[in-house]
Amino acid sequence: MLVSVTLNPCVDHALFVEKFAVGDTNRVMRVEKDAGGKGVNVSRVYAELGGDTAATGFLGGPAAGTICHVLEHEGVEDAFVKIAGETRTNFSIEDNSGTPPTTLNSKGPDILPTEWEKLLVDCKELARGARWAALGGSLPPGVPDDAFKILGELFHEAGVRVILDADGFAQKHGMLASPDFIKPNAAEASRLLGVPIESDLEAVEAVLNLHQRIGGGTKIAVISRGSSGAVMATEGGVWVGRSPKVPTTSTIGSGDSMIAGILWGIDTGKPPEVALRWGLAAGAATAMTDGSGIARLPMIEDLYDEAIVEAKLV
Ligand SMILES: Nc1ncnc2c1ncn2[C@@H]1O[C@H](COP(=O)(O)OP(=O)(O)OP(=O)(O)O)[C@@H](O)[C@H]1O
Ligand SMILES: [Mg+2]
Repeated sequence: MLVSVTLNPCVDHALFVEKFAVGDTNRVMRVEKDAGGKGVNVSRVYAELGGDTAATGFLGGPAAGTICHVLEHEGVEDAFVKIAGETRTNFSIEDNSGTPPTTLNSKGPDILPTEWEKLLVDCKELARGARWAALGGSLPPGVPDDAFKILGELFHEAGVRVILDADGFAQKHGMLASPDFIKPNAAEASRLLGVPIESDLEAVEAVLNLHQRIGGGTKIAVISRGSSGAVMATEGGVWVGRSPKVPTTSTIGSGDSMIAGILWGIDTGKPPEVALRWGLAAGAATAMTDGSGIARLPMIEDLYDEAIVEAKLV
């Protein structure tokens, strides 16, 4: 089973307009609401692929109902700690201009010390039946700065492999728990390593560097590069993956979908390069989906054939 931990989930509220005009009145043509947050997305796509998964973290207030409903509908076990504060709603505005959506993200509710303690107790319980724990996203006010280090060590002690997908100081602290699988995008990896990542060569060097910095037995480092694809390093080699060419509507959640695709591939015994193809297909399928919508199985299966992965000799 995969346990995902989303400390600061959200309801994504997408507003679709013809042509977004700042400082003017915009007529909204369509509104969509969906459950969001990195771990929530990973669990949803993993479940869509047929995997067994539970999602935990903190949920409270009216937005919690929307998220619980989506989890139930999509076959993800709801293991969230229910809190006194209110889960945030993030807004995005999309139009037909072909530019990326404008997003407005709130910082999230205050988490009480007792709620944080409850999460740790619950995670120890969930760890018993888990093979992987996916830790990701931002930290809400009130949780310790080194939340991902604490959680990473908790899961490792229970023999569960850890995936980390965070940015900035949350990521730096999480790296101290020696995650087994990381998937920053090129900008996040570039900030972590302090090097530019634009060409294939720079991406390959960076992913090898990241691979050396993580621990664990499996050790998978991936750098995702949007429509350009992704590079992956494992004990078995280095691969350069090209994404299928798709009409892009919104890439929100593409990285999370890629993690779910790769994990599902590895967990069903596929070799790393095949797992990467599933990741490329799932990421592209989500990029084709409006708003915060996520990849669906038939689309992922179609795109799998178009994803290309080449081994890189280093
Ligand atoms: N426009 C696109 N066309 C095709 N594939 C895409 C596109 N955008 C993303 N993907 C696929 O999804 C993967 C992950 O995307 P990206 O690098 O944007 O992740 P990310 O920035 O971590 O996303 P997020 O954090 O919003 O989930 C890419 O490596 C690629 O395979
Ligand atoms: Mg990401």
